[in-house]
This record gives sequence, structure tokens and C-alpha cells, in this order.
Amino acid sequence: MRYLSGIQPSGILHLGNYFGAMRQHIRAQENPDNECLFFIADYHALTTVRDPDRLRANVRETAVAYLALGLDPSRVIFFRQSDVPQVLELAWVLSTVTPMGLLERCHSYKDKIARGIPADHGLFAYPVLMAADILIYDANKVPVGKDQVQHIEVTRDIAQRFNHIYGETLTVPEYQIEESTAVVPGIDGQKMSKSYDNTIEIFATPKQVKKRIGRIVTDSKTVEEPKDPETSIIVQLYRLVATPTEAEEMADRFRKGGYGYGDAKAELHRKIVEYFDPYRERWEELRSRPDEIDAILADGGRRARELARDCVDRVYRACGLR
Ligand code: ADP
Ligand code: TRP
Repeated sequence: MRYLSGIQPSGILHLGNYFGAMRQHIRAQENPDNECLFFIADYHALTTVRDPDRLRANVRETAVAYLALGLDPSRVIFFRQSDVPQVLELAWVLSTVTPMGLLERCHSYKDKIARGIPADHGLFAYPVLMAADILIYDANKVPVGKDQVQHIEVTRDIAQRFNHIYGETLTVPEYQIEESTAVVPGIDGQKMSKSYDNTIEIFATPKQVKKRIGRIVTDSKTVEEPKDPETSIIVQLYRLVATPTEAEEMADRFRKGGYGYGDAKAELHRKIVEYFDPYRERWEELRSRPDEIDAILADGGRRARELARDCVDRVYRACGLR
């Protein structure tokens, strides 16, 4: 089973990214039947980041976080998207079998247009490049967040169209979603996202985490009053970092009353800090060794290119470019 996913180098990585995406990626390496490829989607990032120093720094930060959190480059091919330029060759070929309507229906493009923001060709063609990312490695399973499901459906469509025109050449992939953590709430109750300033960062200092938790929105119930755990952001976040028993205990205390939001926030703070603490030392160490990060990505890039060349050859032969 070939397992592949990409993550945009956004710089700031938060609990939503970890529980919604990164943790699944890192866990996949534990299954010996999986052959895993994970990459940092820097070509895609050009549609939003236009500052070269920031892009470079974000790629490193993303790599450092993945490695510190346990991604093991000896078990996973971990690389930078732009180290495999063959993906652009495939993207062009795929674009010639991609109907305009398929791309016009994509949310990422439609939303921008609806908000009156001028879209460039890169944003419009984003799903074709994403299809190339997936198809070039003959990936079977693509773990993604809900927001990316449409892109995997587009990928399937494009692969099927190519195979229909030129004969069976491309592997049609499937997406995989982790329902229980599909939407991690931010401190304001909306989906946690760096665009909403409602995040708790994975490697924030305990003091910073405390500040963010302090801002979690609650109602005005007194300590004594019973509270509904199911609507509480504190409980939802606590469930991610606590054991099921601990989470149930907190939910019980909410229902019984006599337990204030301040106490619950302090307990949440303790657990979040405790959860990520074992990774912090490695994170600090890796951040001070950028050469090591670059070497890991370069090695992953070499391995990924070999697989990519194979697919591009096959595709070129199928459509008459060879
Ligand atoms: P952001 O919304 O902060 O810009 P990205 O769009 O860069 O985050 O998301 C990177 C990955 O993390 C995607 O796979 C996405 O589905 C996942 N992700 C981001 N925010 C959340 C969230 N609040 N809950 C679950 N998954 C999330
Ligand atoms: N578009 C994805 C995101 O924003 C990142 C991505 C690029 C990706 N190429 C991919 C994800 C291929 C899975 C497979 O999160």
C-alpha cells in the first residue's frame, strides 16, 4: 500500500494541523505494509507566499516539526516537492485531459472569485498539480483533512480520464479521513486556523500556551452551576491531549457543577504542555542544525525522483511523447 500526503509550508503549525493531519502521517510509518511518502508542498505555496526568505524558512520549520514529532526518514520518503520537478512535466500532460469545468467547480478557486479576489492561473491549476503529486508516485491512499477531499476526487477524475484515453497507465487513489479529529476547534470555537488568529501552536512556550488558553471563549456560568461538556471548547481540546478516562472525568465534573472554567483551563494547560514536552528538546536541537534538515530532504528528494521518473516515462510513452 503506497501512502502519500503533502503539507503546505505554512510556518505556523498548530494543534489543528497536528491532530487533523500530521499525527496521521507520522502514525502511518508504524504499519510495515505501508510505503510512505510525505512532502512539503513548496510549489503550491507559491500561490500564497511571495516572500522568498519566508518560503525558505517555512519549509525548514515544517520539516523540523515533522521530524521532531517523530517522522522517521529511514522509514518514510520525506522530501520537498520542488526537488522533484518531474511533477511539473506530469502536471502539463494531465492538464491537457482536465476539463475546465472540473477546475471551475473547485472550492479554493470559487471561494476566491466569490470574495472578489482576483485569482491567478496557479490557483486555478492548483488541483492539477496536486493530482500530479499523487499520481506520479502511484499512491493508493492519501490521508487528508476534509477541505482536501474535493481535490482527491478531481485527482481520481483526471486519472480515469487519462486511462480512458491512453489505456491503463495511472493508479487511481483513494482519500482517507480521520473523522474524530477532522475539525479541531480554535480558542474562539471556529475551526482552528492560522488565518483566524485562534490557534494554539504546537511548540509554543508554556507561557504562550497559557495566554492562548486564557482567551478561550466561555459563557458566564458560575463555578457552582452544572455545565454542558459537549459544547465546551475546553473539553473538546482536552479530549485530544488527555486519556479517555481523564477526558471523561473532566466531562463529569462539568456536568456535576462545582468546577469552574478557570480550573478546567489550568488542567488543559497542564496536559497540552505535557503532551508536547517530550518532543521539544528534539525540536530545539533540529532547529539549530539546518544542514541536517537540508540533507534529510535532499536524500528524500533523490529517492522520490527515482519513482517519479518511472511514472513520467510510462505516461510519455502512453501518450506518444516517446
Ligand atoms: P490552516 O487552516 O491553519 O491554514 P492548513 O490549511 O495549512 O491550515 O492545513 C494543513 C493541514 O492541517 C490540512 O491537512 C488540514 O486539513 C489540517 N488542518 C488544519 N486546520 C485543522 C483543524 N482545525 N482541524 C483539523 N485539521 C486541520
Ligand atoms: N493542498 C494540500 C493542502 O493545502 C497540500 C497538498 C499538495 C497535498 N499536494 C498534495 C495533499 C498531494 C495531499 C496530496 O493541505
